[in-house]
Amino acid sequence: MSLQFNNYLCKISISVFYYLVNSDFDILKILVRWRTGAKKTMEIFKTVSAMQSWSKQLKKQDKTICLVPTMGYLHKGHISLMEKGKELYDKVVLSIFVNPTQFGENEDLDSYPVDLDKDLYYAKKIGIDAVFLPSKDEIYNNNYQTYVELTKLPKHLCGLFRPVHFKGVTTVVTKLFNIVDPDAAIFGQKDYQQLQVIRQMTKDMNFNIKIIGAPIVREDDGLAMSSRNAYLTPEQRKSSLCLSRSLEKVRKMVKQGEIDADVILHKINEFIKSFEGTKIDYSALCDPETLNNVKEVTSKTLFALAVIIGKTRLIDNTIVEPITNPAQ
Ligand code: PAJ
Repeated sequence: MSLQFNNYLCKISISVFYYLVNSDFDILKILVRWRTGAKKTMEIFKTVSAMQSWSKQLKKQDKTICLVPTMGYLHKGHISLMEKGKELYDKVVLSIFVNPTQFGENEDLDSYPVDLDKDLYYAKKIGIDAVFLPSKDEIYNNNYQTYVELTKLPKHLCGLFRPVHFKGVTTVVTKLFNIVDPDAAIFGQKDYQQLQVIRQMTKDMNFNIKIIGAPIVREDDGLAMSSRNAYLTPEQRKSSLCLSRSLEKVRKMVKQGEIDADVILHKINEFIKSFEGTKIDYSALCDPETLNNVKEVTSKTLFALAVIIGKTRLIDNTIVEPITNPAQ
């Protein structure tokens, strides 16, 4: 009798838990409110329809909405985007979704770091108005068929090494734009190519959304903040400094009058190789708009690089400019 009763209780608990996790029920809201001690409610939406109707309601009240798309495991880089949104717009929506379509077959989708509790705590502290937290099935159902793809920009830099990546990014960002219907969206310059791709897509697809680029936030020693930094062992963390140090070196070379891209990149590649356990995906000097490689640094130029350290792929970039610009 008691064994039967226990089984019965167990089944009920599982059903209740399943309902709470998969619905728009306020349990997460209540927990977050309790932990942060904040008075204002932060909405948490797990369904497209709930997110859409909230946005629609606010639009009716003439409120401006800013979207900050992320894959979670928030750090100070993400926080800077949310704070910028708070400064400029009435309402800020944070989306957290580890988008499977932007990961290649042998990439880190399954091991991508997650800490939802911490993410919601930060979001609440900052004063985010709504978090969009969809499941994979809510975004891509069984019969999902539509993708958004650019023809030129993804053929450079990261796109050469991650062939499906930008198609996944543009598809999910298009869906987020349609679901949240924001007036603006903020992206970090840390992912420079992603920002350019989104700007181009927004223009091409006639989205009436302002795309805002936000500066790269770094650790004290120069490493660009990234959720993937969590993968680094202490030894690899030391080697990771090759990225920000390379940016400094390129800036210095250009400042001293070096304009030959081959000369600069050769020196940089040698420099990166001098760090333990590094493998260069690319280091490139290119046009900041088209991302085409340049032979000489004669005007504003993007220096971008991707380096694999152990199993972690890190990226960084900076814009360099020659001392005297012959084009002017
Ligand atoms: P994620 O890597 O989580 O990054 C979310 C946003 O934070 C991006 O716009 C990224 O450029 C920005 N960001 C990351 N590190 C930063 C740093 N150190 N300084 C400033 N901004 C930083 O990028 C993605 O997610 C996804 O591709 C996404 C756009 C959400 C689509 O799935």
